[in-house]
Amino acid sequence: MLTVDPTHPNPDCIAHAADVLRAGGLVAFPTETVYGLGAHALDADAVQRIFIAKGRPSNNPLIVHVADVAEARLVTGEWPDTAERLTERFWPGPLTLVLPRRVNVPDAVTGGGSTVAVRVPVHPVARALLQAAQMPIAAPSANRSTHLSPTRAEHVLAGLRGRIELILEGGPCPGGLESTVVDLTTSPPRLLRPGLVTPAQIEEVVGPLLRSRPVTDETAPLPSPGMTARHYAPRAVLECVADDGSDRVAELRRQGVRVGWLALSSAAGQDVVVMPRTPTDYAARLYAALHELDAAGVERIVAALPPDDEEWLAVRDRLRRASTR
Ligand code: TXA
Ligand code: MG
Repeated sequence: MLTVDPTHPNPDCIAHAADVLRAGGLVAFPTETVYGLGAHALDADAVQRIFIAKGRPSNNPLIVHVADVAEARLVTGEWPDTAERLTERFWPGPLTLVLPRRVNVPDAVTGGGSTVAVRVPVHPVARALLQAAQMPIAAPSANRSTHLSPTRAEHVLAGLRGRIELILEGGPCPGGLESTVVDLTTSPPRLLRPGLVTPAQIEEVVGPLLRSRPVTDETAPLPSPGMTARHYAPRAVLECVADDGSDRVAELRRQGVRVGWLALSSAAGQDVVVMPRTPTDYAARLYAALHELDAAGVERIVAALPPDDEEWLAVRDRLRRASTR
């Protein structure tokens, strides 16, 4: 693990990380969303090692991180007007675009499909690494498959210690939830994963989006191969409740269950986390709070669901996934 300043990362550390990538190694690094586990995206063997380290099913494709639009165009087969407009507005940043792939992208990256997911991250450490490495970097979140995404280097270490070459430790990730994924191969474009860029922001640029599924339907299949319902899950069983959660917490405690509580209103006591009241602050805190409750050893987590508004879409999506068994 190498600690770097999150805004002005030491060039020697970045150069070392770039060398590791060039040699086919795996490097975890902070982005504005969550920590990523990077490999040289055009080196099929290096990419294969990501799947082994994570225990990830090989049909789940990876996001290719690139330095800029020019590099994105080297791995994509088409660059529609929608891509031009969305990247102008949201790159660098937490928006991932699914586009037709180019043949140079290994099947391991695309899951063997005809498309590739690309994004330009804004985090200074990720940008410095992309610039130094001079290659596209395939990077899923740096966690074991189906586990919680890491928002701190210590989460990466806990999950992947001994399985990867290097962690660039650059402090907590400011965003806290994975990027928004939009498929531009359909017309209109389709929202595959809600994230920090909201549907309303995207629709301002490209018009109405197809929603992958109604937000309220808990059982419909997800369209993206990696979007198995159970995902982003803590070890403890998580339950979402529509009210403040106090009754359910009290009931479980009476049964002798050690309960963690993600509360939205003031509450006190052991294993209680009072969550921020705005979507962005809540998002930044969510995974760290779940990691903390897991580390404390709770058996259950009760989460008070935030309002059913689109600004809360990404947070509600992750809570729902974390509660699916
Ligand atoms: O914020 C993020 O996106 C983080 C950071 C590290 O950039 N990365 C991340 O990667 O969350 P991962 O692998 O955990 O999630 C990528 C998602 C998966 O749900 C995957 O199925 C989907 O993107 N995806 C990747 N390539 C795709 C493709 N060609 N078509 C459809 N979905 C794709
Ligand atoms: Mg992930």
